[in-house]
Amino acid sequence: MKKRVLVVVAHPVMEGSRINRALLEAATGCECVQVHDLYATYPEQMIDVSHEQALVFQHDVLVFQHPLHWYSCPALLKSWLDMVLSYGWAHGDVSTQLAGKSWVHAISTGGADSVYQRRGYHHFTLAELLRPFEQSARLCNMQYLQPFLTQATDTLSDTALQAQADSYAAWLKELAEGDGPPVVESVQAEEAQYLEPVRDVKDI
Ligand SMILES: Cc1cc2nc3c(=O)[nH]c(=O)nc-3n(C[C@H](O)[C@H](O)[C@H](O)COP(=O)(O)O)c2cc1C
Repeated sequence: MKKRVLVVVAHPVMEGSRINRALLEAATGCECVQVHDLYATYPEQMIDVSHEQALVFQHDVLVFQHPLHWYSCPALLKSWLDMVLSYGWAHGDVSTQLAGKSWVHAISTGGADSVYQRRGYHHFTLAELLRPFEQSARLCNMQYLQPFLTQATDTLSDTALQAQADSYAAWLKELAEGDGPPVVESVQAEEAQYLEPVRDVKDI
C-alpha cells in the first residue's frame, strides 16, 4: 500500500547549503512525497503547533532531512520536536496519535563514516549519537528506520552529489511505494558488540 511521506527539511542557511539544497531539490521533484521546509515556513521561528500536528497526522512516514550540527539537528527542528510532539498528543498514557507511523532521518555530516567510531575522531558511531531520536520515536510508538546518510560532505564531488541526490529521490520513492529501509529493532545487538563481555564472578 502506498504511504504518505512528509519530508521535514531543516537547514538554517539553505542559500549557503550545497548538500541539503541538492537533496531538497531532489525531494521537491518527487511526486510521491510532500516537502515541508521549516526555516522557509517559519523565518521568525514561531511554530504553528496545531498546523504542524494536523500535517503530521495526515502522513504515515516522517523524514527529517538536515545537516548534523553539533552531533544533533539544527535548532528549529529541535524546537519543532519539543513543541509538536507534545505530551498527550504524540506520547503519554491517553493519546498517541503517531502510533504505527515511521520516523527516519536523512542526514548530512561533514565527517566521513570512518571517523564515527569508538577509536575514530568523533569517538561514537552515528547510531549512538542519534539515540535520542531513536528513543523519541519509540516513545511515540513509531518505527525508527535506518537513516539515509550523506557523509564527508566537504570532499563530495559535484558528480557524486548528483548521484547522491538521485539515490535520495529513489530512496524516497521506495519509502512511499515499496518496503523502505529496515526498522532499527533494538540497541541490544549493537550494544553487544560495543561493550566488553560481562563476566560472571564464577568465570574469573
Ligand atoms: C554549526 C555546525 C555544526 C556542525 N556540526 C557537525 C558535527 O557535529 N558533525 C559533523 O560531521 N559535521 C558537522 N558540521 C558540518 C555539517 O554537517 C556539514 O557541513 C553539512 O552536513 C553539509 O551540508 P550543507 O551543504 O547542506 O550545509 C557542522 C556544521 C555547522 C555549520
